[in-house]
Amino acid sequence: MAVSLRSGVKPEDRTAVRRLVASTGFFSGPEEEIAVELVDDALSKGEGPSGYHFIFAEENGQAVGYVCFGPIAGTTASHDLYWIVVDNGRRGGGVGRLLERACGEAVAKLGGRRIYVDTSSRAQYEPTRAFYRACGYAEAARLDDFYAAGDGKVIFVKSLD
Ligand SMILES: CC(C)(COP(=O)(O)OP(=O)(O)OC[C@H]1O[C@@H](n2cnc3c(N)ncnc32)[C@H](O)[C@@H]1OP(=O)(O)O)[C@@H](O)C(=O)NCCC(=O)NCCS
Repeated sequence: MAVSLRSGVKPEDRTAVRRLVASTGFFSGPEEEIAVELVDDALSKGEGPSGYHFIFAEENGQAVGYVCFGPIAGTTASHDLYWIVVDNGRRGGGVGRLLERACGEAVAKLGGRRIYVDTSSRAQYEPTRAFYRACGYAEAARLDDFYAAGDGKVIFVKSLD
């Protein structure tokens, strides 16, 4: 079954985002709440005013992954990739690559020229870091002990120029 992409967020995506984020086993309860709060913000204010843009990957009408991104306030053309999540059962099947490519195209349409993404330095996130490198991101900075002792923040950047 082919995976299709849908831009924009709908009320039923609240449940889908919660399910997808929980499925990964990567995120804490508070992090899951933040993911849903971004959906709520985009639903109540609109994607442009909220600064949170969404693209969903769907199969048989069911979300199998999503990406959330938006412009970084105070910059001329820098965007953040806030969340990219693929259903745990679908990881490694190319859905993440599809979402990342669509995110890059959408950012370019919004006038963005750089995409930044933060991740953890923990070993659990090595596949995530490998994913970003495979998608053309380069490590730009590493802040030791940022999240907790022994858990640093790794900042990746991709230029769209
Ligand atoms: C990171 C994530 C979004 C990637 O999506 P995905 O659909 O699994 O990735 P893809 O199948 O599109 O992989 C694209 C490329 O990334 C690399 N990659 C993906 N998973 C990898 C892994 N486990 N180990 C090493 N490289 C990996 C590969 O180079 C792959 O290309 P290839 O299949 O041609 O070799 C997904 O695995 C995920 O949701 N992980 C848990 C949550 C997370 O870490 N999110 C990001 C932080 S918000």
